[in-house]
Amino acid sequence: MKKRVAVIGAGPSGLAQLRAFQSAQAKGAEIPEVVCFEKQSNWGGLWNYTWRTGLDEHGEPVHGSMYRYLWSNGPKEGLEFADYSFEEHFGKQIASYPPRAVLFDYIEGRVKKAGVRDWIRFSSTIRMVRYNNDKGNFTVTVHDLKKDSMYDEEFDHVIVASGHFSTPSVPEYPGFDIFHGRVMHAHDFRDAREFTGKNLLLLGSSYSAEDVGSQCWKYGAKSITVAYRNAPMGFAWPDNWQEVPALVRMDEDTAYFKDGTSKKIDAVILCTGYKHHFPYLPDDLRLKTANRLAAADLYKGVAWVHNPKLFYIGMQDQWFTFNMFDAQAWWVRDAIMGRISIPSDKNVLLQDVVDRVAGEDAGQDAHDAIHYQGDYVKELIAETDYPSIDVDGACEAFFEWKEHKKKDVMAFRDNAYKSVITGTMAPVHHTPWKNALEDSMESYLEN
Ligand SMILES: Cc1cc2nc3c(=O)[nH]c(=O)nc-3n(C[C@H](O)[C@H](O)[C@H](O)COP(=O)(O)OP(=O)(O)OC[C@H]3O[C@@H](n4cnc5c(N)ncnc54)[C@H](O)[C@@H]3O)c2cc1C
Ligand SMILES: NC(=O)c1ccc[n+]([C@@H]2O[C@H](COP(=O)([O-])OP(=O)(O)OC[C@H]3O[C@@H](n4cnc5c(N)ncnc54)[C@H](OP(=O)(O)O)[C@@H]3O)[C@@H](O)[C@H]2O)c1
Repeated sequence: MKKRVAVIGAGPSGLAQLRAFQSAQAKGAEIPEVVCFEKQSNWGGLWNYTWRTGLDEHGEPVHGSMYRYLWSNGPKEGLEFADYSFEEHFGKQIASYPPRAVLFDYIEGRVKKAGVRDWIRFSSTIRMVRYNNDKGNFTVTVHDLKKDSMYDEEFDHVIVASGHFSTPSVPEYPGFDIFHGRVMHAHDFRDAREFTGKNLLLLGSSYSAEDVGSQCWKYGAKSITVAYRNAPMGFAWPDNWQEVPALVRMDEDTAYFKDGTSKKIDAVILCTGYKHHFPYLPDDLRLKTANRLAAADLYKGVAWVHNPKLFYIGMQDQWFTFNMFDAQAWWVRDAIMGRISIPSDKNVLLQDVVDRVAGEDAGQDAHDAIHYQGDYVKELIAETDYPSIDVDGACEAFFEWKEHKKKDVMAFRDNAYKSVITGTMAPVHHTPWKNALEDSMESYLEN
C-alpha cells in the first residue's frame, strides 16, 4: 500500500509541497499518494485576491488579507524559486517589486507547469484532524463546501500549510464603541480609495501599518497618524504623516494619545498583526507559537516534536518566503519518503527547538535576523536535492532594500536588484511607485 499524505492549504506553502513531490516523481521516484485540501475555489492562498471580507459564500471565514493595490513589500530577488525563475515565467527579466497579480501569475506558472492541479480538492475545508494511536495514522474530516457534505479519510502523514496571516489579532481600546467612524482590522482592508480625503488612524508599527498607510497616502488620504505601542517605525514620512505614542482612548471623533496629544479622526485601521489559528486541530496536534523566526515545537522548523508524522510549513515570521517554503517542503518530502530520518529520541527534537530559539534570541537586529533565516534556508537546502541558491546574495538584496527604505520609504520600490537564480539585473520600473495608480499585470510588464 502506498503511503497517503494530506496537505492542508494550496497557498505558496502547500503548492511548494506539491511541487516537491512532483519533482521527485519526475526524476523517477515512487511517491506517496498526495491529496491537498483547499477551502477556497482556487489556489494561491493569500495571493488569490478576493473582494470579500467577513464570511464567504459558504459562511466560512474569508482567508484573504491582501488588498487591491498591494505590491510586494520586499524585492522579488529574495523570494525567487530556484527551479523556476521570473525570466522563465515571463520570458524576460521584470522589475523588482511586482504587484499582487504579477506574483500570483508567477506562483501559478510553476504549478501549472508541474501539472499538480488535480491533486487538489478545492472548496474543501478541513474540519478536524485526529491521530489514531492504534493504527498510527490520522483521520481527516473534510467538509466539501459545494456539496455541503462531510466525510472522513485516513492518511499516514498530515502537512499543515494553512498560513498564519489570516486570523486577525483585534485589540479593543476605550471609546471604540462610541466612535462615529469605522474601526476595522487590516485583514478587512481592500481599497485605499475608500479613505481618500480622510484623517486616518493606524495602530501598529510593522509591515501592515507601513504599507496600508502608504497605500492610503498614495490614493489621497488627508492625513495618516500611526500610533505605536513600543517603538515607532522611524522612517522619513511625508508631511501629512505622523507617528505618535500609543492610543489611550477615543471619543466620538477624536483619538487621545499617551503623550497627551489628540487628533480628530475619520477612521481607524488596526494593523495589529495576526494569530496562528488552527480551529481544526485538537490540543495534541495544535501549534501554539508567537510570530517569530524560531517557531515553538517544530524540529527543523517543520516536524511537530510531539508527533513527527505531522508537519507544518511556513509557520515562521518571514523575511524569506517562497524559497523558504520550498526548502521546508523538499525537506518534509524527504522525511516522509525515508530519505531523511527524524531522530526517535524526543529530547533530541526538543533540544533542536531550544537551540533555534537561542540562535534567534542571540541576534541584535534585523540584519542578524535576515542572516539567521538565510542560514536556516541553507541548512535545509543542503539536506535535499532542492537546487542550490545563492542565499547570501538574497540576503544582500534584503540589506539593500532596508537601506533604500531608510532613504525614502515612498520610493524604495523604484530600485532594482540582481537575480540570484539567473544573475541578471532587474530593470527599473517604468513609473515611480507613488505615481503608479494603475497596477495591472499588463501595465507592470510594459518595461
Ligand atoms: C497583507 C499581506 C501581504 C503580504 N505580502 C507579501 C509580499 O509582498 N511578499 C512575500 O513574500 N510575502 C508576503 N506576505 C506573506 C505571506 O504569508 C506569504 O507570501 C504566503 O502567502 C504564505 O503562504 P502560505 O501558503 O503559508 O499561507 P497562505 O498564503 O495564507 O495560504 C494558506 C492556504 O490555506 C487555506 N486554508 C486555510 N485553512 C484551511 C482549512 N481549514 N482547510 C483547507 N484549506 C485551508 C487557505 O484558504 C489558503 O489558500 C504577505 C502577507 C500578508 C498578510
Ligand atoms: N505589501 C506587502 O507585501 C505587505 C503588506 C502588509 C503586510 N505584509 C506582511 O504581512 C505580515 C504581517 O504583518 P503585520 O504588520 O500585519 O503584523 P506584525 O508584523 O505581526 O506586526 C503587528 C504589529 O501590531 C502591533 N500590535 C500588536 N498588538 C497591539 C495592540 N494591542 N496595540 C497596538 N499595537 C499592537 C505590534 O506592536 P509591538 O511591536 O508593540 O508588539 C506590531 O507592530 C508580514 O509578513 C508582512 O510582511 C506585507
